[in-house]
This record gives sequence, C-alpha cells and structure tokens, in this order.
Amino acid sequence: MKKILISAQDICKSFNGQSASERVLDKVCMDIYAGDFTIIMGTSGAGKSTLLYVLSGIDRITSGKVCYKEKEISSCNEKQMAALRSREFGFVFQQSNLVSNLTLFENVAVAGYLNKSHSAKQVQKRAGELLQMMQVEKAQNRLPSQVSGGEAQRTAIARAIIHEPELIFADEPTGALNKKNSEEALDLLTKLNEAGQSILMVTHDVHAAIRGTRLLYLDDGKIIDEMTLPAFTGKDARNREEQVSTWLSSLEW
Ligand SMILES: Nc1ncnc2c1ncn2[C@@H]1O[C@H](COP(=O)(O)OP(=O)(O)OP(=O)(O)O)[C@@H](O)[C@H]1O
Ligand SMILES: [Mg+2]
Repeated sequence: MKKILISAQDICKSFNGQSASERVLDKVCMDIYAGDFTIIMGTSGAGKSTLLYVLSGIDRITSGKVCYKEKEISSCNEKQMAALRSREFGFVFQQSNLVSNLTLFENVAVAGYLNKSHSAKQVQKRAGELLQMMQVEKAQNRLPSQVSGGEAQRTAIARAIIHEPELIFADEPTGALNKKNSEEALDLLTKLNEAGQSILMVTHDVHAAIRGTRLLYLDDGKIIDEMTLPAFTGKDARNREEQVSTWLSSLEW
C-alpha cells in the first residue's frame, strides 16, 4: 500500500471578509501519496493555488486539519512550519523567482546551505551535478537576467530539489515557458518522479497534466473527481491527452 504523505481533512479556506458560502476551499478531503505525480486541475479561480499553499503550509487553513506523515501541521506555529517547509518540501512557481544578484550556481547552492544537513562542500558538489542534470551548467556563472526563461526555470527546479525534499510543490511551473522549454521542464519533473520523487503540481494545461499519475479535479472549492494513469513513458502521450481531455469534458471543463 502506498504511504500517505499529506492528508487533508475537511479543510476550508476563506479570505478576510468572505462568508462561509464564499469559501475558496469548502471541506476538502484528500490524501497525497508518496511516489505519485499528483496533478490538480480546475478552472481559473477554482482554488488550485490556494489548495497548494495551504497543503504546503505557505498559507493557513480557516478550519479542518492538514497532516504531514500523520503529524498535524495545520496547528504548527510559523517557525515550526518554516522549518518543515525548508526541510521536507521543494517549491517551483510559475516565475522562477531566482535571486537577481546571485548566479545560477549560487541560487541553487544557497538553498542547499539554508538546509543545514549537508556540508558546504557537499552542497557545492550537488549543486554542480543538479545544474548539469538540468542542462544549465554552461550558464551556471551567469545572473538570472542573463539567461533564458527556460534556463531560469530549470535552475529553479534544481534549487527546489537540492535538499532532497520529500515532496515538490509546483504551481503552473511551465505557465511562463514556450513549448520547447515547457517540454524540457516537464521531462525533468517526469525523470525525478521516475526516480521516486513525489510531486504535487497544479496546472490547467492538458499537455502538462498528462505527466501525472493521479489527477484531481477541483471545482467550486471541492475535489469532485479524480483519475489515475500509469507512469508516463513518452510513447503514450497522444493516448493520454485523449484520456485526460475526455475526462475533463465529462467534468464540463
Ligand atoms: N489573498 C486573497 N484574498 C482574497 N481572495 C483571494 C486571495 N487569494 C485568492 N483569492 C481568491 O480565491 C479564489 C481562488 O484563487 P486561486 O488563486 O487559488 O485560484 P486558481 O485556481 O489557482 O486560479 P488560476 O488558474 O487563475 O491560477 C479566487 O477567486 C481568488 O480571487
Ligand atoms: Mg493559480
């Protein structure tokens, strides 16, 4: 049986001034399993980013309970939450959010230093290896303003995994990339998942969603349906696109 990484029970989220009927998340119950490439889909404004932020502890739920490896984290204070995030989770957002006055190498290494479990030497070695894996080693001594969007986003993926997180949270990680760069970033995420990395990715792009092994559909603050797929091989892309499109049509997406 698969291990549960994150378990959400009856989670609600409303922002200041919103009444119960306007809740962005409305009693969501869901589990995220280790080893899965989980995808959250749904229309714009459905609450996908909000769900990702509350599951990862970036934002707070209004009520309910979020557990990480069976420990309730929704009641943790900010300091405990920040420690958990930096140790256990990796984040990739739509914009790479690299530090502008640090080189690509430094951006990745700094994330490793912040996590104090490895020596500086080990961090530097791993940063070099990851930048190579992400195919940005030639640009590693340049600043983010001196590289392409694809290179910056691949660096952001390296930064997200340098501390070997249990789970990567990705919010529309290919949303700002062209088709070629998007495919390359998705290939990297697929490769990481093949190697056992658990990933939770929000996307509204069918082309990105087909990389997932478990797809959840969020509508009106609730998870209303899900589908599972075998691991992506690359050969089955067209068939998966058809399956996911048919599923989405049935949900009136
Ligand atoms: N800080 C906030 N204060 C008030 N309302 C917010 C806040 N953040 C998000 N919302 C609202 O919550 C709803 C869900 O937003 P969210 O960003 O989670 O949607 P989404 O599904 O990620 O959309 P998209 O696909 O456009 O990124 C939206 O109606 C949004 O306007
Ligand atoms: Mg969003």
